[in-house]
Amino acid sequence: MNKVIAIYPGSFDPPTNGHLDLIERGSKMFEELVVAVLRNSDKSPMFTVAERLDMLRQLTRHLDNIRIAAFEGLMVEFAKSVGASCVLRGIRAVSDYEYELQMALMNRKIEPALETVFMLPAARYSFVSSRLVREVAQHGGPVTDLVPELVEQAMLAKIDPAHKLRGRPQVVPTTKKKRKA
Ligand code: PNS
Repeated sequence: MNKVIAIYPGSFDPPTNGHLDLIERGSKMFEELVVAVLRNSDKSPMFTVAERLDMLRQLTRHLDNIRIAAFEGLMVEFAKSVGASCVLRGIRAVSDYEYELQMALMNRKIEPALETVFMLPAARYSFVSSRLVREVAQHGGPVTDLVPELVEQAMLAKIDPAHKLRGRPQVVPTTKKKRKA
């Protein structure tokens, strides 16, 4: 097989276990996989692009053929700029198919040389999406097993900034005793 560079584009707000599962599968298939975070996909994202890039870098440290990058504008242009000939996308269920088909065919119309490859994440992640994970977390529900631990902690810190401080020994302000006159 030819050595193929692929890009895995998305919003990753936040990265989920489903994304990571796909990145791990993709890293075995391609010579290099560029995980590409779209800038400005959502006007009120939970995480900044810098935070998403940072989380993805930490989560993929164990894989040596993964590059994490941000892009804006047309995905096919970004793919060309990194020498990618493939786009990797995940399909969780039939409901994903229509949107993915439309996108893949539009991208092919713009750049016929770019192939889209669909992969299935592990079945246990077939219902996991960033949007639902955000919604559950925002209402105080559990997201353990749906996102990596570091993402869960980052989400909790976003939702409730006091979260980070809990569990640490409390610093009780001391009041100096007044000296007797
Ligand atoms: O994780 P998402 O939000 O489903 O990812 C969608 C993404 C980023 C792959 C798609 O919106 C995209 O490629 N946007 C870049 C602009 C572009 O090229 N649009 C034409 C796609 S047909």
